Amino acid sequence: MLTTTHPAPAAGPRPATTPAPAAVASGVVKTYGHGTTEVRALDGVDLTISAGQLTAVMGPSGSGKSTLMHAMAGLDAVDAGSIRLGGTELTDLSEKQRTLLRRERLGFVFQSFNLVPSLTAAENIALPLRLAGRTPDGLWLEELVTTLGLQDRLTHRPSELSGGQQQRVAVARALVTRPEIVFADEPTGNLDSRHGQALLAFLQRAARELGQTVVMVTHDPTAASYADRVVFLADGRAANDLTDPTVPTVLATMAGLEQPASRAEA
Ligand SMILES: Nc1ncnc2c1ncn2[C@@H]1O[C@H](COP(=O)(O)OP(=O)(O)OP(=O)(O)O)[C@@H](O)[C@H]1O
Ligand SMILES: [Mg+2]
Repeated sequence: MLTTTHPAPAAGPRPATTPAPAAVASGVVKTYGHGTTEVRALDGVDLTISAGQLTAVMGPSGSGKSTLMHAMAGLDAVDAGSIRLGGTELTDLSEKQRTLLRRERLGFVFQSFNLVPSLTAAENIALPLRLAGRTPDGLWLEELVTTLGLQDRLTHRPSELSGGQQQRVAVARALVTRPEIVFADEPTGNLDSRHGQALLAFLQRAARELGQTVVMVTHDPTAASYADRVVFLADGRAANDLTDPTVPTVLATMAGLEQPASRAEA
């Protein structure tokens, strides 16, 4: 479990043991629409998310990244397959039970932020704590707000914030309860490079020093290079996997996936 005090950074490289899985998706299928308009957004995805790691999910637009994040976080039901979070099988739960599980165990950063318009930035950030009836960890809250550069924006409402500021509020809100897993759909998509790098360094540190499990969708090879691992989706399936990614290895893998020859059954 995570503690409320922040341990000192581990010295030297991390041990090369395989961490325990925080989430496992097996054979997950999700379709939208019916008949001729049917879209198979997820076509049998298998994905294991290791605990305490920052995992990046990449892939072309429409490859199923957001659909997979929503499914793994219990936001949407799936048509087939299994999704386990820790010891819980998500597909066995009712919608109401999934809502409770999300509130108690998960954090989510939506591609479109989804902040509550009538609440200030500070109230939006604290909302998951309020819903869960928990008191804020002052030090953690302060670290989130400072790292994300939101100190002088806390009394503003979302309509008074820029897109990048709203995105940073959404990230703080997802992390405020120190959830078992944070799913973040393009958390740096609206940030300039300075704020983007600060956020990525923070997510990397949260994983390495605090054991926070983070799954982050990104289109940006530089953002992906902050991760411990990159999973590539193509056509609703996991198509490739890179450990300890660098910008050149991410670019090379992306280029490989774009070659028609690599499309197995096209
Ligand atoms: N609510 C929906 N109704 C119908 N089709 C949908 C819906 N949501 C997603 N899709 C389709 O499912 C496929 C996967 O979409 P998804 O949003 O998961 O892609 P993505 O990889 O996140 O793309 P992007 O990088 O553009 O965000 C796409 O073909 C998309 O059009
Ligand atoms: Mg998406």
